[in-house]
Amino acid sequence: MKLVAVSAGLSTPSSTRLLADHLAESARSELAAQGYDVETDVVELRELAVAVANNLVTGFPSPQLAAAIETVSGAHGLIAVTPVFTASYSGLFKSFFDLIDPDALTGKPVLVAATGGTARHSLVLEHALRPLFAYLRAAVVPTAVYAASEDWGSGGDEYTEGLPARIRRAGGELAALVAARPAEETPTDDTAALERQLSDLRFD
Ligand SMILES: Cc1cc2nc3c(=O)[nH]c(=O)nc-3n(C[C@H](O)[C@H](O)[C@H](O)COP(=O)(O)O)c2cc1C
Repeated sequence: MKLVAVSAGLSTPSSTRLLADHLAESARSELAAQGYDVETDVVELRELAVAVANNLVTGFPSPQLAAAIETVSGAHGLIAVTPVFTASYSGLFKSFFDLIDPDALTGKPVLVAATGGTARHSLVLEHALRPLFAYLRAAVVPTAVYAASEDWGSGGDEYTEGLPARIRRAGGELAALVAARPAEETPTDDTAALERQLSDLRFD
């Protein structure tokens, strides 16, 4: 079983990457507790920024970008984390998902998350990320996680749980969706099955 986190953070170290790592670990440990053998992978979009721009203008991905797209498309569960830039997802984050086949995420369990300088932009999860993945027909988990600078190390307030509790809840929800989803054939398996059917046809 494979969990993939996409991080669009640009800084080093990156709070977006840190959040992606925590969420992946939360889902992984929940699935491991249920007896699943889980592999986690992180796609760092920062390293692919030039390749993403080149793909947009040429129509062709670099080998590294093609591998990243395949990793995301083949994941059993996806964690998508962006920094908030100008009250929305970052351009790099959106451009990467623009390059993914619109059917590749259909039905895939996805946890959306974002980091930002201010808690006032936390609804970016609901007005930008959730509609994007709804359009791609992904199965987005109910809890989306936003981490503003002040959330790191905070225990929450009367209206919200602290960040660690939200990470645990969201990771648990992703794990539950991943575990509940029936084993699916990957696109590669579909192609192989189609080829087998075609080779079985007799035209003589
Ligand atoms: C160009 C730019 C625009 C930003 N716009 C916002 C914004 O609208 N709202 C917000 O809360 N934070 C904004 N930020 C702050 C980043 O979202 C925040 O620092 C983020 O956590 C950085 O992630 P990183 O550490 O992974 O690079 C902006 C930062 C940059 C560089």
